Amino acid sequence: MPSSMIQVHDKRFEIFISKEKINERIAEIGREISKDYLGLNPLFIGVLNGSFIFASDLFRCLSIEAEISFIKLASYKGMSSNGDVITAIGLDENINQRHIIITEDIVDTGKTLSSFLPELLQRNPASVKIASFLSKPEARQYNVEPDYIGFEIPNKFVIGYGLDYDRLGRNLPDLYVTSSVSSEVP
Ligand code: IMP
Repeated sequence: MPSSMIQVHDKRFEIFISKEKINERIAEIGREISKDYLGLNPLFIGVLNGSFIFASDLFRCLSIEAEISFIKLASYKGMSSNGDVITAIGLDENINQRHIIITEDIVDTGKTLSSFLPELLQRNPASVKIASFLSKPEARQYNVEPDYIGFEIPNKFVIGYGLDYDRLGRNLPDLYVTSSVSSEVP
């Protein structure tokens, strides 16, 4: 197995985006947000678990006053026709008239955020934007687009930099993608 490849559970992954490239891009987004939100004291809301690394790196790249808080999203069977209802746990802050930046690890189908955004908007924030480390535009099924995107990637499964495969892989500093090389161990 080449050294750039790793095995997690039953799957092999190969390196996709290096930690150097990731750091460069996060610094760029940090500068952009610092310019856009100067004097507005935005409140970052990190969606756990996946975004904890992206949120903390991005937060340290800001040169403006800003606050941060974390939530967990839980889904339960609701009465809506499209299945599960997603609700936020841990959103204790008063977000009335606050400028909110939601930080996500990845927007895939968009289901998670499109279910959670109405709950957030009910609390009357001044504005809501989304910063997502990754976006898979080809996978989108719901009408939600991040405003700040680290990288647009193809519709493939990735791990590392906070993202997991069945709970493992979050601690990898680089981003890895499922390998086309057979995962059968010879
Ligand atoms: P969505 O609701 O379909 O947009 O999915 C969002 C969630 O699915 C993310 O917050 C991740 O936890 C998970 N997810 C989607 N794609 C991947 C991936 O490629 N690797 C790891 N987790 C993923």
